[in-house]
Amino acid sequence: MSDPKERPIPLAQHDVRPEDIAAVVGVLKSDRLSLGQKSQAFERALAAVAGVKYAVAVNSGTSALHLLIRALDIGPGDEVITTPFSFIASTNCILFERATPVFVDIEPETLCIDPALIEPAITSRTKAILAVDAFGHPADLPAIEEIARARGLRLIEDSAESLGSTLGGRLCGSFGDAGIFGFYPNKQITTGEGGAVVTNDARIAELCRSMADQGRGAEEAWLHHVRLGYNYRLDEMSAALGLSQVARLKEIVAARAQVAAWYFDALSDVNEVVLPKVADNVGMSWFVFVIRLAERFSRADRDRVLARLRDHGIGCRDYFTPIHLQPYIREALGTRVGQFAVTERVCDRTIALPFYSQMTQQEVHQVGDALRSSLGRGGTV
Ligand SMILES: Cc1ncc(COP(=O)(O)O)c(C=O)c1O
Repeated sequence: MSDPKERPIPLAQHDVRPEDIAAVVGVLKSDRLSLGQKSQAFERALAAVAGVKYAVAVNSGTSALHLLIRALDIGPGDEVITTPFSFIASTNCILFERATPVFVDIEPETLCIDPALIEPAITSRTKAILAVDAFGHPADLPAIEEIARARGLRLIEDSAESLGSTLGGRLCGSFGDAGIFGFYPNKQITTGEGGAVVTNDARIAELCRSMADQGRGAEEAWLHHVRLGYNYRLDEMSAALGLSQVARLKEIVAARAQVAAWYFDALSDVNEVVLPKVADNVGMSWFVFVIRLAERFSRADRDRVLARLRDHGIGCRDYFTPIHLQPYIREALGTRVGQFAVTERVCDRTIALPFYSQMTQQEVHQVGDALRSSLGRGGTV
């Protein structure tokens, strides 16, 4: 067995095959590096894997979120209810447009926004709900859709981490008014940097497409601009990579499910940790594998375990840190420690373990062994 101290096991690794490289090189040899057929084909493939009519490919998941905030006309004075347990972009996109994020806490098992807490947070200024499918696990989107419908609110599904996941047989990205995907290299599929808006709403798709391309109109001349726009376009090399990768999505999702199953098996006897939970009606497309130390441990204990794992050559990190406790968010919104107890308790104890589709069972066992020795004897750390 190789020693991770000599050959470290990374936290994440992209899965790029010879056919992906050939697809990118093919574009480089062509006469179109932007605004071409590959982006259009990638969009059709994405719409299919999200079970929606329209996809607009863009240069990041953050850009996709920003476009949706603008397309839904969310701006100054509007409130958007969202989760503090996410990657920062899901809150930043609200702040970009001078709207106000209103955080509510998460469910302790799925780590997604708790629908029971949404209703009490609604005010006359609430315009939308932005729910995040944490680590690939869908939020309770049918319940949230019901609240949005009853209260006349818009709903954005931040499905950046859940490409290929299903809830009650329905694909992630297809809930609410629109969803988004992200294709950073640690995601299920990558385009290097990249993202997409996915929706069944023709108007939202059209607005996003126009704003991503300098505010051009659909049929207009190159230098005719009908609204404020950005350059959020995805180039053809990235689109070709995405198209090649998305063709293997089923295979990638299955490989990641196998790695997750190996972890469940390898860590089942480690009573110092809590393993991820998957709701019964969920088909999981795993983004990351994040365990937690049991409640009796502290953040300092967790940080010690992370340091020891790294000494063993195991890539790992705390994941996430609470958004409401980021310095500039505290300053902007006046948020403070103790406000979202579940999120804070979870964040203090998370350990993201190495996770990628090519990971072997042997590597999973090496991580398990390193974790056991990092936890020490008798449950002390
Ligand atoms: C939940 C969530 N939302 C948004 C994003 C932003 O995506 P990107 O990094 O492609 O801008 C990410 C990226 O990791 C994410 O995890």
